[in-house]
Amino acid sequence: MASKVDEQPAEREGVDEIELALLLEGVYRRYGFDFREYAPASLRRRVWRRVHAEGLTTISALQDKLLHDPAAMERLLLDLSINVTAMFRDPTFYSTFREKVVPQLRTYPFTRIWVAGCSTGEEVYSLAILLLEEGLYDRTRIYATDINESVLNRARAGVFPLDKMREYTQNYIKAGGQRAFSEYYLAKYDGAQFQRSLVDNVVFAQHNLVSDRSFNEFNVVICRNVMIYFDRTLQERVHRLFYDSLVMFGVLALGAKETIKFSRFEGCYEELDANERLYKKVS
Ligand SMILES: C[S@@+](CC[C@H](N)C(=O)[O-])C[C@H]1O[C@@H](n2cnc3c(N)ncnc32)[C@H](O)[C@@H]1O
Repeated sequence: MASKVDEQPAEREGVDEIELALLLEGVYRRYGFDFREYAPASLRRRVWRRVHAEGLTTISALQDKLLHDPAAMERLLLDLSINVTAMFRDPTFYSTFREKVVPQLRTYPFTRIWVAGCSTGEEVYSLAILLLEEGLYDRTRIYATDINESVLNRARAGVFPLDKMREYTQNYIKAGGQRAFSEYYLAKYDGAQFQRSLVDNVVFAQHNLVSDRSFNEFNVVICRNVMIYFDRTLQERVHRLFYDSLVMFGVLALGAKETIKFSRFEGCYEELDANERLYKKVS
């Protein structure tokens, strides 16, 4: 029987692919997390990183460990659900939101906003600050969801690294912030504790965009920098979920590298702002 070291690179890659597919199937059947349609290149990189971090040499060995050790699954989940985020990330997104979405929100007596894939919450606190400054926070409820419970716990706590505050203050100013950013947090040790009142109207909950259904009707759905990790089929499924979750004339906000273009739902939206990936549902 040929051993692993005898395999040619092309053969090795083929075996890798089989092992990866089996691992993803196993993870899905054991834990219900469905990564089977995530974009393969970055998925493979991240799985290999976990193989090495666990002191293993093959994807199959990792699969074996994952099936029997939920703690290893937690670690893989953290690797796969790339959590990079920032307050007022892409400041022009927020200034455009103020300019083009806020006037529409003023016409509603009450607004429901879904922030899907909210990670550790920086985006949610940014949005809360914006709505507060626009006098809309009191009549808004924000539903902030993520697949990953541990990032949600950090979001609930609302403590962000103090050494990020300089960058976030710059972002806040560029985003059209109207006060001193430091009014919103208290510096303690190496963390900035954001005002608890910013999350008075926020519900944090675990939700998996791949396998869970819609849970309400929303005036705005914000899902930025999440779908870049999904393949076309999965993106299409998530677009259906968002379409079904939005009220007529509701707004969909995507990340800078994401678009509704080329999706089956393209014709159902009008561009509110092409650069900032803001779309309005019109049919
Ligand atoms: C790069 S972060 C984006 C955070 C934030 N939206 C932003 O733009 O700064 C991607 C987030 O999507 C979440 N995510 C990945 N797959 C998901 C899924 N199937 N359902 C819900 N959230 C998911 C990850 O856990 C991660 O927190």
